[in-house]
This record gives sequence, C-alpha cells and structure tokens, in this order.
Amino acid sequence: MKTRISELLNIKYPIIQGGMAWVAEHHLAAGVSNGGGLGIIAAGSAPVEVVREEIRKAKTLTDKPFGVNIMLLSPYASEIADLVVEEKVSVVTTGAGNPEKYIPMWKEAGIKVIPVVASVALAKRMEKHGADAVVAEGCEAGGHIGELTTMALIPQIVDAINIPVIAAGGIGDGRGLAAVFMLGAEAGQIGTRFVVSHESIVHPNYKKRLIDSRDIDSTVTGRSTGHPVRSIRNQMTRQYTRLEQEGKSFEELELLTLGSLRKAVVEGDINNGSVMAGQIAGLVSKEQSCKEIISEIIEEAEKLLKID
Ligand SMILES: Cc1cc2nc3c(=O)[nH]c(=O)nc-3n(C[C@H](O)[C@H](O)[C@H](O)COP(=O)(O)O)c2cc1C
Repeated sequence: MKTRISELLNIKYPIIQGGMAWVAEHHLAAGVSNGGGLGIIAAGSAPVEVVREEIRKAKTLTDKPFGVNIMLLSPYASEIADLVVEEKVSVVTTGAGNPEKYIPMWKEAGIKVIPVVASVALAKRMEKHGADAVVAEGCEAGGHIGELTTMALIPQIVDAINIPVIAAGGIGDGRGLAAVFMLGAEAGQIGTRFVVSHESIVHPNYKKRLIDSRDIDSTVTGRSTGHPVRSIRNQMTRQYTRLEQEGKSFEELELLTLGSLRKAVVEGDINNGSVMAGQIAGLVSKEQSCKEIISEIIEEAEKLLKID
C-alpha cells in the first residue's frame, strides 16, 4: 500500500499512531514504528526535558522514523518546537491550534510538518504555509475534537488541497482504513485501538474499560466552553455535564478536568479520571501488539481494496 504519505514519511504501511497525551510515550511510538507504521510521542503539557528523554528512549528502541505531537496550548510549546529541531525528529504533528509561526524553522531543519485540522479553512491555510500533509480528524475521535464527522470532512478537505490527507477519527480495522482511502485519504491515523496495545502503558483498568465499551459509551463534554473532548461516560463526565448545564465558567469546569487524564491513564481511576477514547472503542475487543494490529488492518484493507 504505497501512497504519497508512506513515501513522504518513509514508512512501510500508511498507518500513523495518533499523538495521545500521557498515553503515547516511547514504548508505544517505537512499537508502532517497528510494526511498519509511524509512531508518535505526544508532548501533551509535559516539560521539555521530559519530552527530550522520551525522544532519546524511543531512539534506543527503534531505528525507524517516528514523530512528535506538539499540543500548541502547552505552556512549553515553543521550547518543544525548538527541541524537535535539536533532536532531529523526522516528523511533527500539531494539535489544538495553528502552528504556522513554527513551520519555516521546522522546514529548514528538514522536518516533515503535519498539522491536525478539523476544517477545510485550516487545511487550506496550512497548505499555504508549507505543511507537507494534514491529519483531518473527524469528531468520532477520542480526545479534543471538532464539529464534522470523518465521513463528511475527508472528501471536502481532499478536494480543497493538493498535499496528501491523513484521515483520523473512527478507524478501528481494515474496513475503516479502506473506507477513508475511498474518500481520498492516503493514510489513516489511529488512536483508540492503539491505546489497547501491549506496548501502551495505560493502566489495565483503562484498557479493560475500552475493551468492555459499547458503541454508545462515549460522550462529549466541554461544548459550552468551545473545547469539546470525547471520552467514555463516567462519574466525571456526568458531573461535568451537570456543571455545564448550570452555566459554570470555563475556569470552574477546568478545575474538574485538571489532571484527569493522568488520573485515568496512570492511576487507573476510570470513574473520576478522563477515559479519553473514540466512538470506535465499541469495536475494540482485545489487546494485541502494535505489529499485530497494523498487520491485521493492512491485510483486511488490501483485500477490500483488491491490492495484491
Ligand atoms: C487518550 C487520547 C489522547 C489524545 N491526545 C491527543 C493529543 O495530545 N494531541 C493530539 O493531537 N491528539 C490527541 N488525541 C487524538 C489522537 O491523536 C487521534 O487523532 C484520534 O485518537 C483518532 O481517532 P480514534 O480515537 O477514533 O482512533 C488523543 C486521543 C486519545 C484517545
């Protein structure tokens, strides 16, 4: 399955592992890259020295390319923008904003730049500012989301720009990957299914909760604040929704979510923590290695797309 994305990123299969704060550290990133996809370390809101350490550890586990996802709302975003240049990271993806001020510096360093977008307007703007590709993410995805579904978003972005498009949001197996190829995407970015991989360091409670989830178990909180997040419904999301309905301020709501992803990922508190996951969690039924996940998805997609 050769596409402009697999050529651009020098990877065997057009599968990217989504940057996931707290989840996507060196074990997961190296596992995906060794399995033939592109692994990504998520910087989240971590300080620069923590991210540097993650990059260096990943380099000891894989000689394949991997990327770093920079969350632009992080207080350390600009330091991490410099760090990826110093550490000669191959690929940068960005979330939660517009990375255009950093693009010239990254391009000069030979880094491939792939912003995550949820609208045609931002995709066009990123192309104009020199991005190599975009990740177009539909609102089925886990974590921070936009408005449009993957099904509606991908073909509109594909028609609007000339650089290649990576689809994200709701891809859980080979059918999902084949479907986004039919919509014009040239790779799939997967988050939720990789959370439940052997290499993923999330607490066993988190993995079990995802394996046990049904189709309707995820919910979106934070629409009233302009920062919607998809996670598995639990005590925390119910309380959040109640406070949202009472018209509480962004600051008050933030108090509830501060540190909540860490609480679920590290401590395994799946009732009071934020169990971020996409709608496709209902399809994820077992824990496998990254290599198995990738091979299974590619094999199924190739069969459906009739690629020999
Ligand atoms: C637990 C979790 C944390 C995430 N954190 C980030 C993040 O820090 N930065 C980012 O750009 N996307 C983040 N995402 C989105 C993923 O990178 C990816 O685009 C998304 O999971 C794809 O959709 P899927 O969950 O349906 O596979 C996160 C997703 C999950 C499930």
